[in-house]
Amino acid sequence: MSAIEIRGLRPLKGEIIVQGSKNAVLPMMAASVLNRGKTLLNNVPRIQDVFCMMGILNSLGCTCRLKGHQLEIDSSGLSGSCVLKEDMEKMRSSIMLLGALLGRCGEAGVYSPGGCMIGERPIDLHLMALRELGAEIGEDDGDGVLYARVRRFTGKRIVFPFPSVGATENALFAAVMATGRTVLEGCAREPEIGELCSFLNSMGACVRGQGTDILTVEGGLPLHDTHFTVGGDRIVAGTYLMAAAAARGELVLTGLDPGVLGAVTDILKKMGAVIYEDEGLLYIRCQERLLAADICTGPYPDFPTDLQSVMMAVMSLSKGESRIQETVFENRFRTAAELEKMGARIECMDDKARIKGREMLFGTRVEARDLRGGAALAVAALAAEGSTIIGGYEHIQRGYEDICRDLEEIGADIHMCA
Ligand code: EPZ
Repeated sequence: MSAIEIRGLRPLKGEIIVQGSKNAVLPMMAASVLNRGKTLLNNVPRIQDVFCMMGILNSLGCTCRLKGHQLEIDSSGLSGSCVLKEDMEKMRSSIMLLGALLGRCGEAGVYSPGGCMIGERPIDLHLMALRELGAEIGEDDGDGVLYARVRRFTGKRIVFPFPSVGATENALFAAVMATGRTVLEGCAREPEIGELCSFLNSMGACVRGQGTDILTVEGGLPLHDTHFTVGGDRIVAGTYLMAAAAARGELVLTGLDPGVLGAVTDILKKMGAVIYEDEGLLYIRCQERLLAADICTGPYPDFPTDLQSVMMAVMSLSKGESRIQETVFENRFRTAAELEKMGARIECMDDKARIKGREMLFGTRVEARDLRGGAALAVAALAAEGSTIIGGYEHIQRGYEDICRDLEEIGADIHMCA
């Protein structure tokens, strides 16, 4: 178990080039097996989840080479269709291989995926969509494995009762390989879905409706090699924006479309931050203590659940009482207890939290319980008096290429420790 130490109260100033998006690149890596050939991805973040997905693809017979931020995947040698249980359990996006392997090989063996412990996270909507398109999926017969097979997916109209990001992605993989047209209604509209559609189209697929909740796919088109650049990670960008807001300072973020953070920048402006947006650039200045605010998380374009705990850290220092309603995951307030160790005053009840902001938090030893909760603790530590040790740094490394490097570059006193 690794840890980082942060000595707080240093104003932040500088520029960060935001890393490539974890939640965009992982489904693209899974989708690369749909094409029996080569995929070249640029701006790939060097994070644990990417290394894990590379390991899974290599175990299936693909060849993955990551040089700097460029990833080449050659899936021509794919020979396996079963993902190891211990690999499935490392991250949620392993479930993307169910649709991708069915699309490529007509069969797949998977287990329930792992990932952040932020709720029950069932896969019923994934299974519904794949079955609707023609897959036979055998329920778990005791050893936890799900066997799936399909002769050929057949396009049809599917309506999602909830805009699940992962289920939308798995359905897209099947629809691209299906005969005929598929219309997916009630899709997730997260920017990562739009990026995935562009990626699939760059391989020769025909997906229309990006940015809306209705995606139309003309299936069965021949796929070919592609060379694609991953967009900036909006959750990492939002984390750093809130770091500058909490610790005060001035920050320029480049490498992403600022429009994807509208719900976040709107709230930060209401709280008193000065924010400018331009082509591929986001600027924030925060010299005063922020005001309290109320947020309700929801599917895009609402406030992103992935930045809820980071915002909780910011609210812990704001003037007045803030409220959070978490509508996406049922267990995503676990970081509150760690923030309280630093002096935060937070009351959680079911899907709501009330935060009584205070002038100062205090450094101490805390534990990251999940990826974004760990990032929230880092943001709180930057604004706390004294030194904070954050254990469970490996959670943070799943999604942040090098949070120590990024924050040190803008003036933070942060380093790994034993
Ligand atoms: C993706 O997870 C992201 N992960 C999550 O980011 C993100 O929090 C989430 O979307 C919501 O934006 C990746 O893209 C790898 P969902 P996913 O399916 O696909 C329920 C991070 O920190 N649901 O949209 O798992 C589910 O339980 C991670 O980067 C079902 O009920 O999210 C949850 O309550 C954390 N049945 C809600 O929908 C299903 O079949 C949203 O889940 C699928 C989901």
